[in-house]
Amino acid sequence: MATASEWDERFRKGDSILTEPDSFFLKLRSCYPLLPHWGVPTEDPLKRLQALDLACGSGRHAINLAQVGFETTAIDFSKQALTCVRRSAIHQGVTVDCRLEDVEAVDFGLGRESYDLVAVFFFLHRPLFPVLRRCLRPGGLVIYKTYTTKQFRHAEWPRQRVHVLEPNELLCLFEGFRVLRYEEEWEGRGTAALIAQKI
Ligand SMILES: C[S@@+](CC[C@H](N)C(=O)[O-])C[C@H]1O[C@@H](n2cnc3c(N)ncnc32)[C@H](O)[C@@H]1O
Repeated sequence: MATASEWDERFRKGDSILTEPDSFFLKLRSCYPLLPHWGVPTEDPLKRLQALDLACGSGRHAINLAQVGFETTAIDFSKQALTCVRRSAIHQGVTVDCRLEDVEAVDFGLGRESYDLVAVFFFLHRPLFPVLRRCLRPGGLVIYKTYTTKQFRHAEWPRQRVHVLEPNELLCLFEGFRVLRYEEEWEGRGTAALIAQKI
């Protein structure tokens, strides 16, 4: 898998900069009203709904979450990716708390019941799933999309099973959550995508 400096290089060259949210991310909008306290106005940032974009890249989803009104944290291990997020946040007039962290480090944690919403797109590190499940508040939402083994048919990358999901695996990883949407794509590219609510 690419190192932080390799990702830095990709973002510096502009190769990996994405600004438009993934089409599946847009399906989250209809689920927001399911969040406890959604739409309850507050001036206190600590009382606002908290969202996390993990392995955020250039921050296309973090920016969108901040625009919707979440107090948003974006985590990535590429300094250059976070520079893109900060730039976009200024451009869009929103605030995103950017954290430079290696989420594969053994001591990486997100606390217990810290977030109302967690978004992860095109990143997979299986030991993180207990961390993700734990950091959501009851009633909180997770949206997750990444490649499956079916992607091997369509592209050169990713090539290793450790970096892709097995069919239906995402459903198992969030077992016990209420599944709101689940999609697997087989044609053109292989992806699995889930929106689920912590009960
Ligand atoms: C394919 S990009 C996806 C970016 C973003 N989620 C999106 O969909 O636009 C993968 C991202 O994961 C980040 N990443 C990879 N390994 C990481 C790690 N161990 N800790 C934190 N971020 C990591 C990379 O820097 C990169 O920004």
